[in-house]
Amino acid sequence: MRIYVYPGSFDPVTNGHIDIIDRAAKQCDKLIVAVLVNSKKKPVFTIEERVELLKCALAGRPNIEIDSFTGLTVDYLKRKNASVIIRGLRAVSDFENEFQMAILNKQLSPDIETIFMMTSLNYLYLSSSVVRELAANNGNIDGLVPDCIKDRVIEKLRSLKK
Ligand code: PNS
Repeated sequence: MRIYVYPGSFDPVTNGHIDIIDRAAKQCDKLIVAVLVNSKKKPVFTIEERVELLKCALAGRPNIEIDSFTGLTVDYLKRKNASVIIRGLRAVSDFENEFQMAILNKQLSPDIETIFMMTSLNYLYLSSSVVRELAANNGNIDGLVPDCIKDRVIEKLRSLKK
């Protein structure tokens, strides 16, 4: 059974993530979308909220699981018997950091592969931080996040601004 893991902050999940998730899920038997704390970032949504938003956005997809973890991504993959880390790439600016993570993860665990998927053109400039910025400032986030999470994202960001 091919188990892949898509790790990330998902703060919050965007339609760019959903696009990568749907495409990655076709390449494996089970895709685990795993939320974790990126120590370089200070998240707006709690882990529980991010998992909830993902569950709502991905309801009804049979081979997709949502989970959260702490610690190293490669250790999580080993616990789950997973073989591949999925990461999305947008602009060249993503590359340096992603390259560094992939090399590091390869050194930590040579049997685990990182597979990169290029963003679809529609989502080239979409990121969780763009969504947070728009939602906090009365910008329109239609089409940028799944419909079922839109109101919760707006509510949270506006409440933080008050
Ligand atoms: O969505 P993000 O914030 O770009 O995701 C980055 C993430 C969380 C995948 C990365 O920071 C990560 O894997 N952190 C876990 C710690 C780890 O395994 N570090 C070694 C590789 S850098």
